[in-house]
Amino acid sequence: MIGTDVNIAIDNLNIGNLVAIPTETVYGLAANGLNETAVLNIFRAKERPFFDPLILHVNSIEKVNDLVTEFDERLKKLADAFWPGPLTLLLPKKDIVPDVVTSGLKQVAVRIPNHKLTLNLLEQLNFPLAAPSANPFGYISPTSAIHVEKQLGKKVSYILDGGNCEIGLESSIVGVEDNQICVYRLGGLSVEQIENVVGRVSLKINTSSNPKAPGQLKSHYAPNKPLYIGNLLALEQQNITKKIICICFGNQPKFITDVKVLNLSKTNNVNEAAKNLFKFLREADELEGEIIITHLLPNTGLGAAINDRLKRAGA
Ligand code: TXA
Ligand code: MG
Repeated sequence: MIGTDVNIAIDNLNIGNLVAIPTETVYGLAANGLNETAVLNIFRAKERPFFDPLILHVNSIEKVNDLVTEFDERLKKLADAFWPGPLTLLLPKKDIVPDVVTSGLKQVAVRIPNHKLTLNLLEQLNFPLAAPSANPFGYISPTSAIHVEKQLGKKVSYILDGGNCEIGLESSIVGVEDNQICVYRLGGLSVEQIENVVGRVSLKINTSSNPKAPGQLKSHYAPNKPLYIGNLLALEQQNITKKIICICFGNQPKFITDVKVLNLSKTNNVNEAAKNLFKFLREADELEGEIIITHLLPNTGLGAAINDRLKRAGA
């Protein structure tokens, strides 16, 4: 069931049920993060492997402190600057956080999301919400309640509808390694914004071999149709006999065949592109056509995270 009633969400979460929640990044598949059985149900519903840990969501720094043993000063500065917002921090966990949440790792991922309904919900709960993106494992993250309904509707007790996600890309994941600030996942907070607060960071955005962020598997975010990245007119030439769907950014190329075009932002606005990206990948999957062609964006601001998702979708 889809609705906007926070009380229904609370009642379900209090008894260990799964509820989909809106955030500014993507929709989450939430359950009581301190209840092992409830957390196991998240993995089951997503068909997600247990080696891929979950983010805990709360509404205040005080509640973060209840979950972690230390808070690095530089990460604290990031929290002060960007929470509530699209930032997830890796911090050493207290014993109260079940191992199944962190896949046995000593650090727990936490964030304060920036969405009115969900902050209101979190304020009324006396536990954090474990919430991965509300998509089947490996598919595109949902940015609207309808996206969740289509794929996980039967597996959740309630979908809290908070409209379309404002940012449209998952949170950026940041932690400390060898006393260095590291970014493990490019996301809704740009590297430039992070560096403005804490100075140079190292990027550890490895794909499948990075044990720090096991969710960063290469096949993530994949639509069902094959997706090719490159020069659009050249890709059209190479696939001239196929029915093509194009996802582009800015100037639209002049195709010679009947290509269906979805433009992420006609005005070259990367934030608009981020908001449209997952919705368009889903649309491209549903439209009549055999292949999707696209190109990379300028690698600055959210462009870097968009390119990361496109490359994973193309793998
Ligand atoms: O924007 C977001 O972050 C959304 C919304 C719902 O908050 N959530 C999200 O969750 O994208 P998920 O599960 O799809 O991605 C979380 C990723 C994991 O795949 C993993 O790479 C990383 O966060 N992660 C979680 N806990 C970790 C930990 N303890 N150590 C290292 N990486 C961790
Ligand atoms: Mg995900």
